[in-house]
Amino acid sequence: PKELPVLEAQLTDAPNVPAPITRKHAAKVVVRLEVTEVVKKLADGVDYTFWTFGGSVPGKFIRIRQNDEVEFHLMNHPDSKNPHNIDLHAVTGQGGGAASTFTAPGHETVFSFKALNPGLYVYHCATAPVGMHIANGMYGLILVEPEEGLPAVDKEYYVMQGDFYTKGGFGDAGLQPFDMGKALNEDPTYVVFNGSVGALNGENALTAKTGETVRLFVGNGGPNLVSSFHVIGEIFDKVYTEGGSKANENVQTTLVPAGGAAITEFKTDVPGSYILVDHSIFRAFNKGALGMLKVEGPENKDIYSGQILDKIYLPEGATIQEMPLAKAPAAPVAANKDQRLALGKTVFAQNCQACHQAEGQGIKGAFPPLAKSDYLNANVDRAIGVIAHGLEGQIKVNGELYNSTMPKLKLTDEEIANVMTFVLNSWGNKGGEVTTQQVAKAKA
Ligand code: HEM
Ligand code: CU
Repeated sequence: PKELPVLEAQLTDAPNVPAPITRKHAAKVVVRLEVTEVVKKLADGVDYTFWTFGGSVPGKFIRIRQNDEVEFHLMNHPDSKNPHNIDLHAVTGQGGGAASTFTAPGHETVFSFKALNPGLYVYHCATAPVGMHIANGMYGLILVEPEEGLPAVDKEYYVMQGDFYTKGGFGDAGLQPFDMGKALNEDPTYVVFNGSVGALNGENALTAKTGETVRLFVGNGGPNLVSSFHVIGEIFDKVYTEGGSKANENVQTTLVPAGGAAITEFKTDVPGSYILVDHSIFRAFNKGALGMLKVEGPENKDIYSGQILDKIYLPEGATIQEMPLAKAPAAPVAANKDQRLALGKTVFAQNCQACHQAEGQGIKGAFPPLAKSDYLNANVDRAIGVIAHGLEGQIKVNGELYNSTMPKLKLTDEEIANVMTFVLNSWGNKGGEVTTQQVAKAKA
């Protein structure tokens, strides 16, 4: 067979997408994507350590053509703390590429695939614990254009939703750690478009002129929530539902599954600020899932008149209603060792299990075992310190070297005493009980 011409893919950051493909033949496309772990803004005054494909969330937009052969390079920056890989939903083959791209910090892996099916596809990291890698922002979109291309439009944009789980509440300032308990309960603190609250607002709003055709490539990285994607004041003339080849017409709200996508198209008829939302509406107005498309140009009063009248209408008079105040439940305090074990088991499931795994077995090369851990059993006070302060640098556990980072966990002394007691009495460890007083002393 004839050798394909070789091209280097031009990748873009959201909300921009690479230019439409004009070539009429397949090519060998080289894609280079670098994973970095970076601290960035999640909301005003709130920072988060994002794990990224290309430096921001969502990951770089990749645009190829049906039947292209892709030579995919995944680089993991040497400063990364964790190994990563990539599963592209556009790939036919083991793990969507994940099986061939497990990449340690400071490494590069390469695999190739042929883009058999056209469509808009999500890609994401699939390294254990998968949920945590995706929750930290490891997702993006790859568009496989059909051979005949997509119809020409005036504007194309890239919008991707994701849900985030922080220890603190919405708006709590500072660098916020990931909260495994909230993630397990599918109870996000933030739901955002393009990686942060306000990423598409004000000066960063999408723009168009009246009479233009707009195409939105919409993705949803999840990890948990399904999006009810809607643009307030617009009707989608066309939606390629779930990113496939069939277009529905005249759609108000389209469902974008976690790990799925949609292509929406509409013509901007009249000027205004059109608000992009997840129409599960508390997410939009209280958790951040809100963006903006600013359309400028002449009015068309036939299509939209503007306000014609505002007058007083008070059929029953107004009253002020009082909302009942919810009382926060008091944290439970263990009265004996059995209660410590029970409470500690929950602390473990919510705070440790994502990394150290359900049976404390860890993940070789990434997270050390707590089961029969010589490191842990040799010095309980040192282990208490690890939980209270986090841990960075090289350690040896059961003969294996680990050189990674354990986050500082926001736990009370009581919770640390309970989880340590649970760990010490599980999976072949040496037993015993850790008290709140011991924790206070050990971590000081
Ligand atoms: C190390 C306990 C949560 C990642 C350790 C060690 C202990 C420990 C005792 C020392 C090594 C050993 O004995 O195996 C716990 C407990 C947790 C918890 C009780 C929950 C309360 C987490 C989480 C992560 C994590 C959520 C991942 C985000 C690590 C890593 C190390 C480590 C990477 C090795 C650090 C290094 O290489 O310096 N943990 N851990 N741990 N933990 Fe955790
Ligand atoms: Cu990853």
